[in-house]
Amino acid sequence: MATTLTPAPIRQIAPHGGKLVNRLLTGDARTEAIAAAAELPRIVLDEREASDVEIIAVGAVSPITGFFNADDYRGVVDNMRLANGLPWSIPLTVSTAGDQAASIKEGSRVALYDGSGVLLAILHVESKFRHDKAHEAKHVYGTEDQAHPGVAAIYTKGDFLLGGPIDVVNLPAHDDFEQYRLTPEQSRAEFLNRGWRRIVAFQTRNPIHRAHEYMQKVAMEICDGLFLHPLVGATKGDDVSPELRMETYEKIVSTYYPADRVVIGVNPAAMRYAGPREAVFHALIRKNYGCTHFIVGRDHAGVGNYYGTFDAHHIFDNFEAAELGITPLFFDYTFFCRECGNMASVKTCPHDKSHHVTLSGTKVREMLVAGQVPPAEFSRAEVAEILIRGYSNQS
Ligand code: ADX
Ligand code: MG
Repeated sequence: MATTLTPAPIRQIAPHGGKLVNRLLTGDARTEAIAAAAELPRIVLDEREASDVEIIAVGAVSPITGFFNADDYRGVVDNMRLANGLPWSIPLTVSTAGDQAASIKEGSRVALYDGSGVLLAILHVESKFRHDKAHEAKHVYGTEDQAHPGVAAIYTKGDFLLGGPIDVVNLPAHDDFEQYRLTPEQSRAEFLNRGWRRIVAFQTRNPIHRAHEYMQKVAMEICDGLFLHPLVGATKGDDVSPELRMETYEKIVSTYYPADRVVIGVNPAAMRYAGPREAVFHALIRKNYGCTHFIVGRDHAGVGNYYGTFDAHHIFDNFEAAELGITPLFFDYTFFCRECGNMASVKTCPHDKSHHVTLSGTKVREMLVAGQVPPAEFSRAEVAEILIRGYSNQS
């Protein structure tokens, strides 16, 4: 008689660096921090920096416990390594300038506020160092061009960076996507609960098109489930709003995906448009959320023409598989081929371009703004309908 194997218990992927960080204060420690903050120098964070506080607080960027000190900053900017050697690709920074920069000493504390005056965190200043913006831009973004939105964000900062661990008093307030705001601890619990061992994560800042659906479903064939993890932090002004994007995910997932194979969460991080460097950053974040695999397609996290179409694949060759932990799944340019009668890429389709349904983002937007439905091979009708309605409400 045949015997069947009893599955081994699930051992979830370890967070990057081994331990999930939690920098949220509670109880007396929180009360004391609030009282102490009143006496400390104040720094008001912008939306991006405030979202950095959030991803640090909940462990999304474990093992990072605060804003980057000088050693980690230099290691990451120059060599994609923290001072302890762990792979990392984008520094998280907070800055100061002028008289305040002169008065803040290493070893002191400063209080970090959001734009509306809510205390977010206390920063224990381990190091204060000059911000070489051009150097960071060149190494992290591959360009010093301030027309690049990620580079522009660097140049809004003060001339000195302050690094050190943060203790978080309040997370930035949100009044949207309540049910999707899973922390890494919660997504990990959810995956365990579902009995998933292999979980593929999908990063996106766009409405869901057929290419996205195809890549997700190809990966779902070899994984137990999909963690659909759209980024909802700050994006550049002409990206589709998170509200509209979320509507497309909800509609398509509920219509074309098996409910028990998908978890939707939102990533509170800001978009940096750092292309290859951000692909690594995105992968490590999803590892912390408990995912084992991560989809990286064409021009991942790119903007304009700053990056080669597959630079975000090549960058992973700088790391050993084991030190990353999460496995990147690389996809070539995917499209619908009319000859094949299905979604494909040059890896699987022998036909020439004239048979492929491809549209630029700009072209799609023009069509939608004009109320035209893009070809169903590019975008499902349900998505087009949501976006056309969204664009018509805007004008
Ligand atoms: S982004 O944050 O990576 O810029 P976006 O929503 O544009 O988000 O893309 C999500 C993922 O799908 C990325 O990994 C991107 O490389 C990939 N992607 C998008 N369109 C295609 C396509 N047509 N072919 C292959 N990969 C794609
Ligand atoms: Mg893209």
